[in-house]
Formats: sequence, C-alpha cells, structure tokens
Amino acid sequence: MTQEALRAAEVRKVYRGRMGPAIEALRGVSLSLRRGERVALLGRNGAGKTTFLRIASTLLIPTSGTIHVFGLDVVDEPERVRPLIAVVPQEGKPFFHLTPREQVYAYLRARGIPRDAARTRTEEALGKMGLEEVGDRLSVTLSGGQKQRAMVATVMATESPLMFLDEPTIGLDPFARRAVWNVLRDLTRKGSTVLLTTHYLDEAEALSERLYIVEEGRILFEGTAENAKRQIGGTLRVSIENGGHQRDLFESFGHTVEEGDVLHVITGPERIHEIMDLALRNRLSATVGPVTLEEAFLTIVGRSIDAE
Ligand SMILES: Nc1ncnc2c1ncn2[C@@H]1O[C@H](COP(=O)(O)OP(=O)(O)OP(=O)(O)O)[C@@H](O)[C@H]1O
Ligand SMILES: [Mg+2]
Repeated sequence: MTQEALRAAEVRKVYRGRMGPAIEALRGVSLSLRRGERVALLGRNGAGKTTFLRIASTLLIPTSGTIHVFGLDVVDEPERVRPLIAVVPQEGKPFFHLTPREQVYAYLRARGIPRDAARTRTEEALGKMGLEEVGDRLSVTLSGGQKQRAMVATVMATESPLMFLDEPTIGLDPFARRAVWNVLRDLTRKGSTVLLTTHYLDEAEALSERLYIVEEGRILFEGTAENAKRQIGGTLRVSIENGGHQRDLFESFGHTVEEGDVLHVITGPERIHEIMDLALRNRLSATVGPVTLEEAFLTIVGRSIDAE
C-alpha cells in the first residue's frame, strides 16, 4: 500500500446556487499527508477548510481535481474509502436520545467492530475525553462542550487509519482542549493519520507537525510553524502601541506588521536596544517577545485570523 494517507491535486470547488453568484470555495488546492502525520489546515472563516474536508471525506464532489486516500480516488471509489476514514464534522451533534456511552458503542458496532473490542474501546474513549460522569445521560441534557467531547470520543474510538476533524476543540475549555490534543497525539503514535482544521494559532502550533495556511481557497504556506516564523525574518518581535503612524521610524529595523493599533517590528536580539530607545524617545510604549505564529500568519495572509 502507498505510504501516502492522502494526496490532493489541484482541487477546485465552485458552489453554484440557484440564487446569487457562483462561489469559488477552492481554487486549486494541492496537499499531501504521510501516514501517521498530524496536519492542520489553518485559515480564516470562509477560507475553504470545511469544503476541503467534505470533499476528502466523500461527502461532496469537487468541480475539478482529485483526492486520493490511501491510493483510492474519493470520487470513483467512495465506498472503499469510507471504511478507512472517520469524521468529526463542524458543528456536529451527538444523537439527542442516546447517551454518549450508547453512541460510541453503537457507532463502533455499525462499523463492524466486534462486541468485546467495542466495549473496551468505548470505555477507553469516554475516559480519555473525561465523559465518565455523564456517560449514561441522554446527550440532549449535556452541555455544549460535553456534546463536542462526545463527538470526538465517538470518532477517536474508531481508530480509523485517517481521521478528519473540523474544528475539534471549538467550545471546549482549556483542559478539554488539551485532552483532545493528547488523544490525537496518541492516535498518530498508534499509526493513524490526522487532518484537522482550526482557527486557533496555538492549537495549530502545539498539535500539528506540519500546517497549511489556507486563504480564499488557496494554500499560501506549507511547512512547520517554526518554518512559518523563520520565514518572516527574525526571532523577536517588538510591539509598539499606537505605532502605526510611526511606521517610517521603525521600518529600517526589520519587517513590520500592523495589527490594529499595534505595530510589530520583527527583528533580531542585536537591534532591540536601539528600537526600545527610539520608542522611548517618541513616548511610545513597546514590549518585546518571541515571534509567534500570529505575526507569521499576519505576514503571510496580510490579515489577522479574526479580522472581518
Ligand atoms: N453549500 C454551500 N453553498 C454555497 N456556498 C458555500 C457552501 N458551503 C460553503 N460555501 C462558501 O464557500 C466558502 C468556503 O466555505 P467553508 O465552509 O469551506 O469555509 P471554512 O474555511 O470552513 O470557514 P469556517 O472557518 O467559517 O468554518 C465560503 O465563502 C462559504 O460561504
Ligand atoms: Mg469550516
């Protein structure tokens, strides 16, 4: 079998509704995942992340281009692809009139997993997602975060070779988010491949071995978070409050990025003193920190992840 879990080539998707103009959601997306890799699609609202996952998981037909999952074409052989994948959809909800324990077990049985294994895996998944206490309550009575955890538990328990998770940690508290991250790391350690989408820069950085930045249906960056940060030309960031008007003053020190009223200057340790002095003399307040994925994203996309 191929070493590639997924390969997408020049995928385009145009939504043609009866009303309004056609929407080009994907404009030639090519990407690939090796077996056992954790990869994030990072992008703003409407970038095309969900559209890509829906095509890759056989729920939507692309306008053109191809996606192969373990060498199988998702359009030509969806019924052979489906047993190899599992999906946490964006805004998915558990069955209201099942308990999390019943849902996880029933899903595993429906996928052909024998009784004993299904029982063991159900308990394991509920435990890892911290759902022991609510495992026997009807899902309709669960909180939003508990419902989301039940969805992740259901899908992780399948231990499918390839998993798609569309914003798996949306609405989760910081502890539950970390539980999801750990679960996903465990899964790839055992050989599964994970493709997730996220708006959270910290999540993309903490969780993915590689990330793709998607904007307006195109891939603008591929690589590690470290690569993304290095690409913008410095290891330190001086953030100057209300520095936007003073851009000229700071431009010679390195690459500059504006984020609202704050001007970030990307630079190296050798120039910090000079910049801080200059800010002080101009009565501007400035702080120094390491470059983050945020500045890299701003530079690569030209807009911040939460800009309208
Ligand atoms: N069924 C549909 N019909 C028409 N347009 C659609 C449909 N689904 C998505 N779109 C449009 O396609 C583009 C990409 O949407 P998509 O849901 O893939 O983005 P996304 O990156 O998942 O965004 P978000 O972060 O908000 O979930 C958007 O402009 C969206 O409005
Ligand atoms: Mg989406």
